[in-house]
Amino acid sequence: MTTFSKLLALLSLVVSASAGSLVLHEWRTTVPSGFVRHGAAPATDTITLRVALKPNNVAGLEEKLRSVSTPGSSEFQKWLSRDDVLTFTKPSSETLSVFDAFASANGLSPTTISPGGDWVSITLPISKANKLFAANFELFTHPSLNEPITRTLSVSLPSELVGHVDVLHPTTAFTAPTPRLAPPRPGRKIRKRGVPAASCDSTDPAGVVTPTCLQDFYGIPTTPVTHSGGSNNTIMVTGYENDWAQTADLVQFLTLARPDISNATGFTVLTTANGTNPQGPGKGGFEANLDIQYTAGIATGIPLQYLSVGGEFTTALLDTTNFLNGLTDLPTVITNSWGVAEDGFGASLATSICNGYMALGARGVSVIFASGDGGVRGAHGGVCTNNTFNPIFPASCGYVTSVGGTQGFAPETAVNFTGGGFSNLFPAPSYQTTAVSEFLATLQPDFAGIFNKSGRAHPDVALQAWNFETIVNGEVNIEGGTSAAAPTFAAIIALINDRLLAAGKPVLGFLNPWLYERASGAFTDITTGHSSGYRCAANETVAFDAAVGWDPLTGFGTPIFSELLKTALN
Ligand SMILES: *[C@@H]1O[C@H](CO)[C@@H](O)[C@H](O)[C@H]1NC(C)=O
Ligand SMILES: *[C@@H]1O[C@H](CO)[C@@H](O)[C@H](O)[C@H]1NC(C)=O
Ligand SMILES: *[C@@H]1O[C@H](CO)[C@@H](O)[C@H](O)[C@H]1NC(C)=O
Ligand SMILES: *[C@@H]1O[C@H](CO)[C@@H](O)[C@H](O)[C@H]1NC(C)=O
Ligand SMILES: *[C@@H]1O[C@H](CO)[C@@H](O)[C@H](O)[C@H]1NC(C)=O
Ligand SMILES: *[C@@H]1O[C@H](CO)[C@@H](O)[C@H](O)[C@H]1NC(C)=O
Ligand SMILES: *[C@@H]1O[C@H](CO)[C@@H](O)[C@H](O)[C@H]1NC(C)=O
Repeated sequence: MTTFSKLLALLSLVVSASAGSLVLHEWRTTVPSGFVRHGAAPATDTITLRVALKPNNVAGLEEKLRSVSTPGSSEFQKWLSRDDVLTFTKPSSETLSVFDAFASANGLSPTTISPGGDWVSITLPISKANKLFAANFELFTHPSLNEPITRTLSVSLPSELVGHVDVLHPTTAFTAPTPRLAPPRPGRKIRKRGVPAASCDSTDPAGVVTPTCLQDFYGIPTTPVTHSGGSNNTIMVTGYENDWAQTADLVQFLTLARPDISNATGFTVLTTANGTNPQGPGKGGFEANLDIQYTAGIATGIPLQYLSVGGEFTTALLDTTNFLNGLTDLPTVITNSWGVAEDGFGASLATSICNGYMALGARGVSVIFASGDGGVRGAHGGVCTNNTFNPIFPASCGYVTSVGGTQGFAPETAVNFTGGGFSNLFPAPSYQTTAVSEFLATLQPDFAGIFNKSGRAHPDVALQAWNFETIVNGEVNIEGGTSAAAPTFAAIIALINDRLLAAGKPVLGFLNPWLYERASGAFTDITTGHSSGYRCAANETVAFDAAVGWDPLTGFGTPIFSELLKTALN
């Protein structure tokens, strides 16, 4: 036995010896880097745990999604209703009664927190949580967190709950405190109102990328849409961590960047989990404004929503999918420019959140995520000499479309920080195995062992991601990152949906099987670039290189609007 498995054997022994009927559920062997232990959480404090009850038929939903999203299937694009999806995600009556019996035997009063009843929450004293789940809740701090968090390095389930409970949260999930995806900001390059920038080329010191540049380069139409409105075709931008979208900044941005359309486009605000979106001087968030300005600036006339979700990021992601899966009317495209290292979540929580995107995909929503801004080294990069690649989530979930980054127009090349790689949690979905194995075959043998070849590979596509002009708190600001690419791609998909609706066809919904099986030719293949990260010199570190065909920097490449539209209408 390895030391590790000896430790595990010992742990489960201890657990069963002390409580009689507990089964180790999830654990960490070490405290994640950056976090510092501060001793036991006070026994009399209370903790609210979210509990995921096993959905009655995840495999059935997965199969249904495959059927409705795979070209050639008789059910292709016959998207499901809210209630159709809930028949798969609600727990079985057996699971409900097992959990109810456990709760009442232990004096707990669960509250249902998801539309299908698959998530409940329980509030209990720390001492009781420690005992019921063989946990050891402790306080942990991190230099960029204002308050300590309460976590445990291992959690067990009473044996009667095994097979009925999938996740207990927060327990072993420790996500990084900076979930906003952004490389260092390029700085400020002011241009006067009405005066065009010297060029659109982000590799040119005098160049900035604007909606007009993107429209010209990718052939995106500037005319207002005709068939979007009400709930037919809406883009939703999701936001976290009190990053607020400002209406006044959007008006100023549209006046500057889209003088050909009304600057009063606006957006509606939705909130969940105590999210807010206050307006006023100094309240503008860099991410929220970037995402709102590039969806509004590109998807001319498509209704926009901003969903602001309160709370710490891991929990907020959960709250996002639970909120959305409860809505009868959903946006058709959701864009999300946030993410953190996959290993912070742990398998059960990440799987449950990823399944939430599966449910949205089955409802006909294209869920789009930025691929990360640390090259192969996680969300924001890491130590350049560490040659173990670090995948990020949620972009690594196979039910979202991950968007990588490029820069320059002649030639367009993968930007060095474009996130991408291979998941350690999710196996490669069947839609991508051919494309990805062609890439893997080109790698040198010395890549063995530094990433997980069998994992879900991303990004799926890419787009410009450097030197985007935005307005934040009334000032011109320049932004970069795959967080600029994702909303732009979302806008393109929404414009295609509008043409599909006009032709009496269904919207694109979950994109990936269609992208890999039908639409790869509608992208310009990006074949140069090295994803070593923003800080790491290309010759000083190991990373992936862009290649002919699919690659983990730019996926299939960058979209050609007319080709995508032709493929979608076909
Ligand atoms: C939305 O779809 C409905 C039903 O297909 C249609 O009657 C309506 O005109 C559409 N709305 C817009 C703004 O196109
Ligand atoms: C928005 O457009 C209107 C009409 O063109 C213009 O009068 C107004 O100044 C613009 N708003 C801003 C903030 O530039
Ligand atoms: C929202 O705030 C209320 C009042 O502070 C709190 O009780 C509740 O737990 C919060 N909800 C979430 C999801 O954070
Ligand atoms: C290298 O990166 C991997 C993945 O992020 C991480 O698990 C590991 O701890 C790092 N190693 C060192 C020595 O920093
Ligand atoms: C590699 O990924 C697979 C899922 O595709 C997972 O089961 C396995 O544990 C991963 N290996 C490592 C070392 O993380
Ligand atoms: C990575 O690319 C950005 C954008 O072009 C550039 O500013 C930065 O210097 C590059 N980093 C390295 C280490 O070359
Ligand atoms: C990497 O390239 C830079 C600039 O071209 C050079 O100064 C440096 O010595 C090189 N480093 C290595 C390890 O080759």
